[in-house]
Amino acid sequence: MAHRLGTSASDIVAAVDYLRSGGVVGVPTETVYGLAASAFDIDAISEIYRLKNRPANNPLILHIHHPSQIERLADTIPETLPQIVDQFWPGPLTVVLKARPDVPAIVRGGGDTVGIRIPNHPTFLQLLASINEPLAAPSANRSNHVSPTTAAHVESDFPTESFPILDAGPTTTGLESTVLSLVGPPTVLRLGSTSITALREILPDVTIDLPDQQIESPGTSKRHYAPKTPFHIWSDQKITNEDGVLLFGGPPPEQAAHVWDLGDDPTQAGKKLYATLREMDQTQLRVLYVVLPNEKKLMQDDWLAIMDRLRRATQSK
Ligand code: TXA
Ligand code: MG
Repeated sequence: MAHRLGTSASDIVAAVDYLRSGGVVGVPTETVYGLAASAFDIDAISEIYRLKNRPANNPLILHIHHPSQIERLADTIPETLPQIVDQFWPGPLTVVLKARPDVPAIVRGGGDTVGIRIPNHPTFLQLLASINEPLAAPSANRSNHVSPTTAAHVESDFPTESFPILDAGPTTTGLESTVLSLVGPPTVLRLGSTSITALREILPDVTIDLPDQQIESPGTSKRHYAPKTPFHIWSDQKITNEDGVLLFGGPPPEQAAHVWDLGDDPTQAGKKLYATLREMDQTQLRVLYVVLPNEKKLMQDDWLAIMDRLRRATQSK
């Protein structure tokens, strides 16, 4: 099993040593826990892909602690970048830029761009500052499984591995960073913890184009962020006492005996979503259902990321 470190100065030193010797380390961020390795250590990066069983064409986010590190990774700096950095970093926004050719192809998933962010988490920022080089880190779950918001979630996805995890308690936003491409017209590629409304204040023309083919590529499934128990959107199916139901403040279906209610505030619901899906999964119920928030709410920007995760988690394959 992975072993836990804390967040003290000596724990950070231990994590830096481990990374420098070519290891991978579980790290806390404000969004979800990540599995980090030095961005320029090709063997350590391939270990991340192996551990997660992640398709080689899915690129990793590079985490930095200071904007001056962008130049080391990106070839072209768009005009709008300084304002975006000022407004959103550190924070849950990943910016995709044209990569410098010497950024290893493996972290770019073979493409010519690179996703970069400064996370807003004191422990991870200390680690990044101490090691003083970019750390690649995807979410610390097996590919397509629910993302981890605690160190225990990371351990349960990798029960036979022995990498260290910096345990800083539960994450705060609970949903991953928003991924914004600035290669060409500003485009959101993944909905996440930075809202579209907030982005529009600086990028009024930003569009959303979620590349489903990214997860429909050979060898991967559309199903993502998913529990292991069958999980469906509830549309009047008969509920038995062997079924679990996830609610967002609405009334439960008739006969529902096992109910989890995340409430009707999207910020609070987003924080608890992944931990709740993992908890529901562990109860060994037959089928899990989610009763979606009403349509008026669904049109609101702050529900978009949650709806996106539920849509993917309830895909059949
Ligand atoms: O909040 C987060 O973003 C967390 C924490 C650990 O930072 N990380 C995370 O990484 O969610 P991951 O690998 O689970 O998801 C990253 C997403 C994937 O959909 C990936 O395809 C996309 O970002 N991505 C990364 N680099 C990209 C690039 N150069 N171009 C397009 N998409 C990219
Ligand atoms: Mg992920």
